[in-house]
Amino acid sequence: MNDELSGLHPDSLVVAAGRPPRDVDAQLNPPISLTSTFHAAAPGEVENPRGYARYGNESWSALESAISDLEGGQTLIFASGMNAITTIFSLLPHGAVVTTSHNGYTGVQVFLSRMVEEGRLEVRYVDVADTDAVLAALPGTALLWLESPTNPGLDVADMPTIIKAAKAINCGVAVDNTFATPLNQKPLDMGADMVVHSVTKYISGHSDILMGSISTNDAALYKRLHDLRNIVGGIPGPFEAWLALRGMRTLSVRLERSQANALELATRLQSHPAVERVRYPGLASDPAHKRAASFMKGFGAVLSIDVKGGADAADKACNASRLVTHATSLGGVESLWERRHRWSWESPSIPKNLVRLSVGIENVEDLWADIDQALQASQR
Ligand SMILES: Cc1ncc(COP(=O)(O)O)c(C=O)c1O
Repeated sequence: MNDELSGLHPDSLVVAAGRPPRDVDAQLNPPISLTSTFHAAAPGEVENPRGYARYGNESWSALESAISDLEGGQTLIFASGMNAITTIFSLLPHGAVVTTSHNGYTGVQVFLSRMVEEGRLEVRYVDVADTDAVLAALPGTALLWLESPTNPGLDVADMPTIIKAAKAINCGVAVDNTFATPLNQKPLDMGADMVVHSVTKYISGHSDILMGSISTNDAALYKRLHDLRNIVGGIPGPFEAWLALRGMRTLSVRLERSQANALELATRLQSHPAVERVRYPGLASDPAHKRAASFMKGFGAVLSIDVKGGADAADKACNASRLVTHATSLGGVESLWERRHRWSWESPSIPKNLVRLSVGIENVEDLWADIDQALQASQR
């Protein structure tokens, strides 16, 4: 972090990080650097020259330094969240043991099940909310893959305890921090080796790009990941990097509004006649609330609803909304919902009638009116 930024609150960092130096007539925003090719350096002339655009780009560097200022460590961005995630798994030797949630993000579940089928990795699935079960699975684990809150079950892991125990036995820890964002929790500060984002979601915030990131405090790990990105070439476009940084400028205000909306909607949904169950860690009655409140600064803006009447009723609700968009993804300014089991690969432990709602920044009364009418329509 440069000196001018040190000590700033994250609300200020999202605005001020990743900008060019404050020289006269310098640009306020970083450029969109459109080049595949750079002039060569004479030997010893420049330290770490970029050399070629698969190895680095000014637009990426601006975003990478801004994410680092929020998460800590050094950051690399990738073409998508899954590209970042699979790059981490590709560091593991053949036959390594991974411990992970039994119902985390489906992309990771599908990828890991293929790795198991092909005999490349061994995977231990655990309920991440069950701390004893996670601790029992750790011995022999090469990498603990933590997602918390989980997508879409909204389980919360006891991150500080689990990460500490994993590091005490030299087990690698990577955390998918997409749902929480660095404004709500900072896994590197808790001792994790790597933190990952689907930058596609909250960090960019406008549902217009795909991108991923990995941040780490470990210089040797950073170098290995950087070398892998150089070779494999899972790189984002400069325009996407610029858009992500532009989106990040409002992360704090977007999250504040979305979280406030999510809490209000979750509270009202609890007593809606078409709702069997609401999961949102921000609700005092939620099983994850006490734990989440002990180390998270906020509870995120995704909630899940089990709709009365099963999968058909849940589908009806999703198709009846007018303001909330029926679509997959999350973390944008607009509210989205979907029944997760419309995807055949959703975990069997997720209820068939569970609808994941990513709450956006719209007016909360408009959201409530729309969700209420859609849920009512689901029961007819
Ligand atoms: C928690 C989580 N991690 C990772 C990903 C994958 O990110 P991407 O879609 O950018 O590849 C997603 C996508 O939905 C996600 O929800």
